[in-house]
Amino acid sequence: MRILLCGGTGYIGCHAYLVLAARGHEVTIADNFSNSSPQVLHRLETLTESSVNFHRVDMRDRLALAKLFSTRRFDAVVHFAALKAVGESCERPLDYFDNNISGTINLLQAMREAEVRNLVFSSSATVYGDPERLPIREDARLQVTNPYGRTKLVMEELIGDVCRADPAFRSANLRYFNPVGAHESGMVGEDPGGIPNNLMPYICQVAVGLRDKLSVFGGDWPTVDGTGVRDYIHVMDLARAHADALDYLAREDRNLTVNLGTGKGVSVLELVRGFEKASGRNIPYEIVDRRNGDVAEVYADPSLAQRLLGWRAEFDVDAMCRDAWRWQSLNPQGYASLFSTESDRALATA
Ligand code: NAD
Ligand code: UFG
Repeated sequence: MRILLCGGTGYIGCHAYLVLAARGHEVTIADNFSNSSPQVLHRLETLTESSVNFHRVDMRDRLALAKLFSTRRFDAVVHFAALKAVGESCERPLDYFDNNISGTINLLQAMREAEVRNLVFSSSATVYGDPERLPIREDARLQVTNPYGRTKLVMEELIGDVCRADPAFRSANLRYFNPVGAHESGMVGEDPGGIPNNLMPYICQVAVGLRDKLSVFGGDWPTVDGTGVRDYIHVMDLARAHADALDYLAREDRNLTVNLGTGKGVSVLELVRGFEKASGRNIPYEIVDRRNGDVAEVYADPSLAQRLLGWRAEFDVDAMCRDAWRWQSLNPQGYASLFSTESDRALATA
């Protein structure tokens, strides 16, 4: 298939690129680098030993999107392009609605004009809010607690309406739980700008000495050890699910909404211990107050994805920690060489 990855230089997108390219698909990336580095393109080229077809496009730019769709006939789109920081979304809700929802409307319009009718969408466990029952099934009540989550829910609904309006349009909503880890090469991985919001990148930065200690948000949750429990999933397992979802849309000709998680809850301290074992580094931590908006436990029932896609997570917490550590130890500053070479500078200003 000829596949367009919107937001494909981001953390999850670049891992999906590697899986799709390895399966023989012809993959094009579009991104505006608002939360990623041009370095990713060089790394992907090294790993695949071939050039990456890349377009610098902002999803909010309708003309640029129309032009992109005129460059080739895509069979499917995978839509990763969104802003994703919960705290920032509370401070800048308009930016989140503008980027995530306007961008998605433009993309859907460009797809309609170009008659591209297969979409895989990056949704999130955030659409379940504070779950009533665990593990979480896809038919659980949907409720959101912050503007970022609201944009994800609105985007799911918008895509659902497009499917109803055009019975030939096919979509797969993939509700990711907590993606962590990196490609086994250690050449691509998660590189949050500034202070990481999420647990695993924070642990990684403590491990390489960029930060003194981890703040554990709450030690009095009603969980196994008092710390928050989440369903961490290796990013390569997640990436593989995108290829499986594209196959499903082509094969079954039906829409799809599935959870992508391991089904196993892991506490903050369990993840810290797993990381210490994988890295051989001590991770100093301090238990502090709960973070606003956090919930005690979130983990998936991933059985629907197994039944429909034949997909299940294969990597365990040890592998997640091992690969996160390999990436961070090989790239202590992430893609810090950003704009350090002439070609990066040219890409960034193109
Ligand atoms: P990321 O920020 O690393 O990747 C998103 C990419 O989209 C970035 O490269 C960014 O530059 C690009 N982008 C954003 N807005 C754009 C725009 N207007 N035009 C063009 N490009 C744009 O994030 P990620 O972790 O790879 O997440 C990918 C998707 O998965 C997002 O939609 C996110 O909401 C969703 N998701 C992520 C997580 C997670 O914990 N990482 C969990 C659930 C869902
Ligand atoms: N945590 C800490 N210290 C930190 C960071 C996190 O103790 O410095 C704890 C949190 O309190 C939580 C757990 O680690 O118990 C995981 O927190 P993350 O921020 O890594 O992940 P969340 O589950 O809170 O949220 C993430 C994304 C959301 C997404 C959700 C489900 O940020 O956007 O996963 O996909 F919706």
